[in-house]
Amino acid sequence: MTKFDLREWLETAWASGQLEMVKGADAALEIGAASQLNYKRKVPKALLFDDIKGYPPGYRVLTGSVSNPNLLGRTLNLGSDLSDLELVEALRGKPQEWLEGSPDFSAYEVADGPVFENVVKKDEINFLDFPSPIWHEHDGGRYIGTGCAVITSDPDTGAINLGAYRMQVQDDGKAVSINAESGKHGFQHITKWFEKEGRAPVAATLGQHPVFLVVAGTEVPTGVSEMEYAGAILGEKVPFVRGPDTGLPIPAESELAFEGWLYPDRKRPEGPFGEWTGYYSGDVTPVLTVEVTGLFHRNDPVILGAPPGKPPHDYSYMRSVMKSAMATDALRGMGLAGVAGVWCHEVGGGRSIIAVAIQQRYAGHSRQAGYLTAQHPVTAYMNRFVIVVDSDINPRDLDEVMWAVSTRCDPARDIEIMHYSWGSRVDPLGLAGQPAYNTRALIDACRPFERLNDFPMVAESSAEVLKRVANKWPGLRE
Ligand SMILES: Cc1cc2nc3c(=O)[nH]c(=O)nc-3n(C[C@H](O)[C@H](O)[C@H](O)COP(=O)(O)O)c2cc1C
Repeated sequence: MTKFDLREWLETAWASGQLEMVKGADAALEIGAASQLNYKRKVPKALLFDDIKGYPPGYRVLTGSVSNPNLLGRTLNLGSDLSDLELVEALRGKPQEWLEGSPDFSAYEVADGPVFENVVKKDEINFLDFPSPIWHEHDGGRYIGTGCAVITSDPDTGAINLGAYRMQVQDDGKAVSINAESGKHGFQHITKWFEKEGRAPVAATLGQHPVFLVVAGTEVPTGVSEMEYAGAILGEKVPFVRGPDTGLPIPAESELAFEGWLYPDRKRPEGPFGEWTGYYSGDVTPVLTVEVTGLFHRNDPVILGAPPGKPPHDYSYMRSVMKSAMATDALRGMGLAGVAGVWCHEVGGGRSIIAVAIQQRYAGHSRQAGYLTAQHPVTAYMNRFVIVVDSDINPRDLDEVMWAVSTRCDPARDIEIMHYSWGSRVDPLGLAGQPAYNTRALIDACRPFERLNDFPMVAESSAEVLKRVANKWPGLRE
């Protein structure tokens, strides 16, 4: 057993009171609704659904796996008793460290693994043998793939990518569709294969340690395999088995996995699906659907669910914390001076509203910070607003950010619009059948550089006076 075994993760989460069991739920709507109730708690927990209606006991679904600081800290090997702020602190510089450490954690092949405990024959494959939830009332079908990792390769370099792309059960359980948005690494791999060979090999794990959800669901830079990145996070190399048909690597301790082939014209109607924007995404559209050639699972498999929806949703906390750490590292890594902090707000699904705090050093600095944030590969997808603030503003505090917007941003001069940027099919403002561009605004809420010395002073007591007064009347702080 390695650190990538979900069973061990479950045991420690249970032992520390971070996991709750829910028995007897229906995969149609009840698992989704129970999970939603959990996300709205002040501190959500992980939920493990067992005795699911119509399925053998032991066939389980896990949700909320990275929905609080304790669970996310444990998943990222940063500590299991961190408060929210401690986790954010602990993450400083980590994405860059993991990136640089990845080459030391190449995944390694093993001949056998728990995922091969059950190998289902090709003509007996049925995804409906496993609890495949209808997460939201108006979803177009059963989505077995949410907290999943789709495994693809680059036909030229052999580089492996893991991406979380939603998967709907198709063909009465015999297949699944994979909804990778254009521009995503998995989509690029698949397109390259189509051009070269006319078909693309694909594999996926549908239940696994949540670290794979974090790395597959976050924009890890091109060329770095998420398996190595996950290795750098947990400080151990990932063991993998090879899919017998495609040769693609599958984490050996995966709970449930499959492999198969995609063909350009093999598509099935897909959607709608309740998405991270908080809306159902678009219409039913044809989406690439796998010809599945192998299905593998452990005894009593656990499917990892991560349903999005109106925030807070299953992974919005993780997305916000991870994106913020990655974006901070990315901007500093590019050499941008004076980056005090970046926060990708949970209300915007960690994508649409990003606040960047800078210590202004030169004329044009704040605009530069805004443009770079709006278009950097880590943050570009479906961004809508970048708000740049001075370093006296806490970018994580939306009230402070909006106060800066109200008082330091002159709309006529300080709002820049970028057209034809990287949008998404899940954008509620997008129009069906149109290319998924979007428009984004850079809101410069910094004091004008030329007025830094004579801008009106902030009307509040200084830290020194506050400290003296608070010591005198300690009750006022409570
Ligand atoms: C639970 C979950 C579901 C996701 N579903 C999709 C999806 O259906 N399509 C998509 O393009 N991106 C989806 N994403 C976002 C991608 O996983 C994310 O952009 C990731 O960086 C993609 O990997 P890549 O950068 O290697 O392509 C999802 C993320 C998570 C966490």
